[in-house]
Amino acid sequence: MTGKIGRNDPCWCGSGRKYKGCHEAFDQKIARFAEQGHVVPRHDIIKTPAQIAGIKESCKINIAVLDYIEEHIHEGMNTAEIDQIVYDMTTKMGGIPAPLNYKGYPYSVCTSVNDQVCHGFPSKDVVLQSGDIINVDCSTILNGYFSDSSRMFCIGEVSLEKKKLVEVTKECVQKGLEQVKPWGFLGDMGQAVHDHAYANGYTVVREIGGHGVGLAFHEDPWVGYNSKRGTQMLLVPGMIFTIEPMVNMGGVGIYVDDENDWEVYTDDGKPSAQWEIMVLVTEDGHEVLCW
Ligand code: MF3
Ligand code: CO
Repeated sequence: MTGKIGRNDPCWCGSGRKYKGCHEAFDQKIARFAEQGHVVPRHDIIKTPAQIAGIKESCKINIAVLDYIEEHIHEGMNTAEIDQIVYDMTTKMGGIPAPLNYKGYPYSVCTSVNDQVCHGFPSKDVVLQSGDIINVDCSTILNGYFSDSSRMFCIGEVSLEKKKLVEVTKECVQKGLEQVKPWGFLGDMGQAVHDHAYANGYTVVREIGGHGVGLAFHEDPWVGYNSKRGTQMLLVPGMIFTIEPMVNMGGVGIYVDDENDWEVYTDDGKPSAQWEIMVLVTEDGHEVLCW
């Protein structure tokens, strides 16, 4: 990674300082992990302070939209109304809903109800009923910076069984987050998520994971939860990624709706829950940027 940069050349991070007084030691430390066979991050996923500031502005919109949904979601509302709120609020604040037209995705938000695992299409035909659990997954582009987070909501009287799934899934994210620190590994996070879900009798979807985010919607690394402590990508300050496990009450199997190629469901029809946060690796731990 030290590559061709001369010690007196400007640092790759854009600080304007000489490489030797800026990221040289940092790159050497990363190179030692690479020599030991670890997967290490490339410079292009390590964000500069200016980029982080821009990403945080994008996150403010995403958080505000989800806060609004949290206050206004209710039984009898249809999920197309949620889509309209997300579009209107995001654009009013100067942002663009990142899902809209992303790889042909036709809406501004994903709304996944009960046995829908993710990428649920908002629809006026999906009317929220008492007992439903729903994930609302919002993503924003502001000045080219991306944010992405999702929350679960319980509608009306939800069974204890489903409430527990929602709570334990949130705990999974928290337990994963506690593992995020510089010079640790992504697998430390993944194993913590996985272990907590399975200890509660649940399963964690394997095929779909989190992702690096900030300068694009989906960047490296891919973030799975079927990973072991001490494995997967080395975490270094300036990396930003999502933690967004999909936790199933029943079996781990899922399928994609073959009519629209987007909506994902559990094979056994049992409920699935998901929470998503965006986390920055800092010099001494982590900072949650979006939730
Ligand atoms: N927000 C989702 C994620 O967490 C992405 C949805 S893809 C879309 O990665 F096209 F539906 F937006
Ligand atoms: Co995401």
